[in-house]
Amino acid sequence: MSVPIKTPQEIEKMRVAGRLTGEVLDYITPFVKAGVTTNELDKLCHDFIINVQRAIPAPLDYAPQGHAPYPKSICTSINHQVCHGVPSDKALKNSDIVNLDITVIKDDYHGDSSRMFYVGEPSIQARRLCEVTWQSLWRGIRAVKPGAQLGDIGHAIQSFVEPLGFSVVREFCGHGIGKRFHEEPQVLHYGRPKTGLKLEAGMTFTIEPMINAGKAAIKQLGDGWTVVTKDHSLSAQYEHTILVTDNGYEVLTVSDGCPTPPNQ
Ligand code: MF3
Ligand code: CO
Ligand code: CO
Repeated sequence: MSVPIKTPQEIEKMRVAGRLTGEVLDYITPFVKAGVTTNELDKLCHDFIINVQRAIPAPLDYAPQGHAPYPKSICTSINHQVCHGVPSDKALKNSDIVNLDITVIKDDYHGDSSRMFYVGEPSIQARRLCEVTWQSLWRGIRAVKPGAQLGDIGHAIQSFVEPLGFSVVREFCGHGIGKRFHEEPQVLHYGRPKTGLKLEAGMTFTIEPMINAGKAAIKQLGDGWTVVTKDHSLSAQYEHTILVTDNGYEVLTVSDGCPTPPNQ
């Protein structure tokens, strides 16, 4: 069990990869409209990453243990899809909510970030779910500083969303990131304060809570990738890549179009 501590040179590369990741989300935002297919969004992002950013879309052909290679360049998870939704020829329709999850490799280092998008006007419940999920990500981020523990991050998220009637997905978590897409540690989005690994300056990991409007249970579809809520309730997710600094945190996946942090 070893958690890499990044050198200043590595951190500089993580900043670049992180910014590029955010910029893909900025770039794709105006295209997320009723009628567009998720395959079209995939192709636009793929071409932008390769041809404009001169970078690599990390999901394409990514094959962790027990998985067939992922067939696309981005993940597109719609409505009750929790994560790893595989782009298809299905068009988005008004009142869908969709998560676009982007991972870019630049100069050997990864940036990983996702946002929710509203297609037309969301239902009141869908909007609330997305807003609470965004706030929960930031509760987690604000728990990050040297000496804090991973359980503090999980607890900050869980203790915020559950009293509001939402649930935290257990089977997927945030992760260390750097030269590898997924490295140690695992960053659970639930937990108890003052438990788990102690954070140290130079660690880089994602926080990416998956929050369900209904029950927490999930299941995986037959494509081997797409994860959905068992009860078909809506699910939302936001993700940032975070650096532990000497006195707190730095969000590495920032970009001009990134939604602004909540007040508290
Ligand atoms: N981007 C996802 C994460 O946040 C992982 C996607 S794996 C893929 O960890 F193969 F589906 F792309
Ligand atoms: Co991630
Ligand atoms: Co991601």
